[in-house]
Amino acid sequence: MVGRVLKDLIPRDEVVIATKAFYPIGDGPNDRGLSRKHLFSAIDASLRRLGVDYVDLYQVHRWDPDTPIEETLCALNDIVLAGKARYIGASSMYAWQFMKALHLSDQHGWARFVSMQNHYNLVYREEEREMMPLCREEGIGVIPWSPLARGFLAGNRRREGLGATKRSKSDTFAQRMYYTDVDFDVVNRVVEVAKARGVSAAQVSLAWLLGQSGVTAPIIGASKIKQLDQAVEALDIRLDDAECVALEERYQPHPVRGHE
Ligand SMILES: NC(=O)c1ccc[n+]([C@@H]2O[C@H](COP(=O)([O-])OP(=O)(O)OC[C@H]3O[C@@H](n4cnc5c(N)ncnc54)[C@H](OP(=O)(O)O)[C@@H]3O)[C@@H](O)[C@H]2O)c1
Repeated sequence: MVGRVLKDLIPRDEVVIATKAFYPIGDGPNDRGLSRKHLFSAIDASLRRLGVDYVDLYQVHRWDPDTPIEETLCALNDIVLAGKARYIGASSMYAWQFMKALHLSDQHGWARFVSMQNHYNLVYREEEREMMPLCREEGIGVIPWSPLARGFLAGNRRREGLGATKRSKSDTFAQRMYYTDVDFDVVNRVVEVAKARGVSAAQVSLAWLLGQSGVTAPIIGASKIKQLDQAVEALDIRLDDAECVALEERYQPHPVRGHE
């Protein structure tokens, strides 16, 4: 479907196409991971499905403990040289793993990761400890996933009954990652700040993330057109220091979530 939209509605040069590889797409050992074999077959399959000659960003979805990182990085470099991807990026992993990969790419003169797609939002701020400073230091673009904690930060999830939307009722991953008492304390603050400003809780949550040093562009999710409009409007919201303190002060450190 994305391929058809790209072909019929938007000139190729005006869109940025990003794709990822790692998680299993079949039962075989070559249908997963970050081996040379799988990275090449996954990008070729993506290009075929999308009906394009190249993607702008080819990302590794997770660290692969079963493949030497040198094999992965050399294959990604060859994919860039072959013109199948313009740039390469990574997603949730430990900061030491990301730094090791950056160092090896530099050492070998290979294409290095230009972006980090990590788990970062008002109820999961563990990335502030290591990954965000690393990305700022290395000039890496940060494109956080689940900036609204899968809808939790929209302020419409409940301790009892979970919420009224289809996703709030069915998203068991969100229910495992969030929904603690401390998370609800944070979201109550989001709702208070939003009410005082006359905007939505989702907009305050996005504005906070956009204001964090090093964040390039959150990868938002939306189940209604109105949510997309609100996300665009959030670009114009600048939170003041007092609002940021109110949003941040109830946070408590969490276990690693998203790439454990
Ligand atoms: N790299 C990774 O490992 C990884 C992991 C997870 C996700 N991702 C990527 O990140 C993308 C976004 O993730 P996500 O969907 O979890 O993002 P999200 O922005 O945290 O959550 C989106 C949900 O928030 C709610 N929402 C959005 N705008 C709203 C508004 N204005 N008012 C009220 N509710 C609003 C909607 O929930 P309702 O439908 O309940 O209204 C929507 O489904 C995914 O598509 C995926 O590509 C990557």
